[in-house]
Amino acid sequence: MQPTKKDWNNLDQYLDIFNSITEKFITDLDSEKAGKLETHLEQRPLSENGIELEQCVDELKDNIIPQLSAARGSRFWAFVTGGATPIATLADWLVTTFDQNVHKDGDSVATKVERQAIRWMCELFDLPNSFDGIMTTGGTGCNFLGATCARQFAGNKQGIDVAKEGVYNLDIEIFSTSPHSSMIKSLGMSGLGQKQFTLVNAIKGTEMMDVAHLELLMGESDAKAKVVIASAGTVTATDFDDLSAITTICKTEGAWLHVDGAFGLFERLVNGTEGYTKDIELADSITVDCHKWLNVPYDCGVFLTRHSYLLEESFDVPARYLANETGIADFMSLGVENSRRFRALPVWLTLLAYGKSGVRQWVENDINITKLLADWIDKSNDFELLYPCKLNVILFRPNCNELSDEEADAKTIRLMNNINQDGRLFISPGHWQGQEVIRVALSNWQTDESDIQVAIDVLSSLKE
Ligand SMILES: Cc1ncc(COP(=O)(O)O)c(C=O)c1O
Repeated sequence: MQPTKKDWNNLDQYLDIFNSITEKFITDLDSEKAGKLETHLEQRPLSENGIELEQCVDELKDNIIPQLSAARGSRFWAFVTGGATPIATLADWLVTTFDQNVHKDGDSVATKVERQAIRWMCELFDLPNSFDGIMTTGGTGCNFLGATCARQFAGNKQGIDVAKEGVYNLDIEIFSTSPHSSMIKSLGMSGLGQKQFTLVNAIKGTEMMDVAHLELLMGESDAKAKVVIASAGTVTATDFDDLSAITTICKTEGAWLHVDGAFGLFERLVNGTEGYTKDIELADSITVDCHKWLNVPYDCGVFLTRHSYLLEESFDVPARYLANETGIADFMSLGVENSRRFRALPVWLTLLAYGKSGVRQWVENDINITKLLADWIDKSNDFELLYPCKLNVILFRPNCNELSDEEADAKTIRLMNNINQDGRLFISPGHWQGQEVIRVALSNWQTDESDIQVAIDVLSSLKE
C-alpha cells in the first residue's frame, strides 16, 4: 500500500487499531510472562509492494506482540527498569502525533519545554540553578557527554581545543573505582580509551571508592589534567561514592568530577541533600536517567553540567542553513544528535502532573517494598542475602552452604533460569565478589506488596 493524505480521513480506523492493541497489551501485562525467553521472527525478503493495513495489524498481533516482554509491568525486575506511568505514556503517544524536531529555536515551543523540563529536573533533586544541560537517549548518552566535557575541559587546560584538534596531544589521567559499563564505553567513544583509566581501590567488600587511595593516586599523578568519575548508585551493589570527600580532593587538584547518578540520584527525593548524594551539587557534571526511576518511556536521560559552554565547544559545528540569531545555544549544538525527538514532553508532563511528591511517593514505595523482599530473603534458610539492601536492589542467591564456588555458581544460575522460565518475574544476573548472584531492581511506579508476595511464592516454589 501507499500512504495518501486521504489516510487521515480514516484517522478513526487507526485510532481504533491503536485503542484495541493498547488496551489489550496493558490489561494482559499482569498475566503475560514478564520476559519472553525464546522468540522467533521469520526471515523473509523485503516485499516490493508492501501489504494492506489489516494484514499489517494481523502480523503485529500474530508475530510480534505475543513475543514482547512485560517490561513496563510491575514484576520486570531486571537491569534497572521503570515502566511508563499513564501520563508519561500519554505524553509519549503525543510525541509521535506532534513529531517535533527539537534541534533549534525558531519554529516551535518544544525547545522551551525541554529547557523547562531540565530546570524542573534540577528542582526535583534540589540542584542549584548553576546546572543546565540537555536531554539524551539515556544514561549512556549522558555518560558520553560527561566524557566529552571532561575531555574538552582537559584540553582547555593545555591550550588544546580537543573537539577541533583531537586527543593526540592530550595529557589526561582519569580515576574511577566502579564505573558503569556505559561509562567505559563512553571513554572509548570519546577517544580517551576504554582502558585508559586508573583504577582506584574499592573499600573492602563494597563498590565504593577508597577516597584515601584516590587522594594518594592523584597526588602522585603529574598529568596536566585530572578527571574523577564517581558513582551515585552502582548498578550491582547500589553503592554511593563519598562525594563530599571526593569534591574536596577534586577542588585541591583542579580536577573535573563526573557523577553517574543514573538511578541513584532519586535517593535524594527520600533522604534529601544530606543523604548518600550529599554535595553532588559540587560535581561538574551528572548523569540521570529518566527512563529508569522517573518512569517515562525509553529514550530519555538528562545530562546536567555547571559548564554547558563545554558542550557547545564540543558539539557546535556552524552550518549556514542552521544558523541561529538568538544568542542561546541550540540543543543541536549541545549534544550528539542534530535532529532530536521531543523526548522532553513525557518528562515535562510527568513533573507537571505528579509534582515532586508524586515522584517521591513511588520511589519511597519501591525502596520500602524492596526491603520487604530483602528481609524475607535474609530470614529464609533457603536463600542468602549477599549485601545489605539500601535502596531498590537486592543481591542474593540460593543457600550455597557447603558448596564449592563452582557448585554455588551453577546452583545460582539454575535458579535464575528457572525464575525467568516460570515467567512471573524477570530478573537479571550479576557478579558480586567473584561469584554469580541474582540481582533484582525494583523501579516501577506500580510495583506493590502483592508483587512481593508473588516473588515469595515463586522463590518458595523453585527452591531446591
Ligand atoms: C549507573 C548506571 N549508569 C548508566 C546506565 C546506562 O543507562 P542506559 O541503559 O539508559 O543507557 C545504567 C543502566 O543500567 C546505570 O545503572
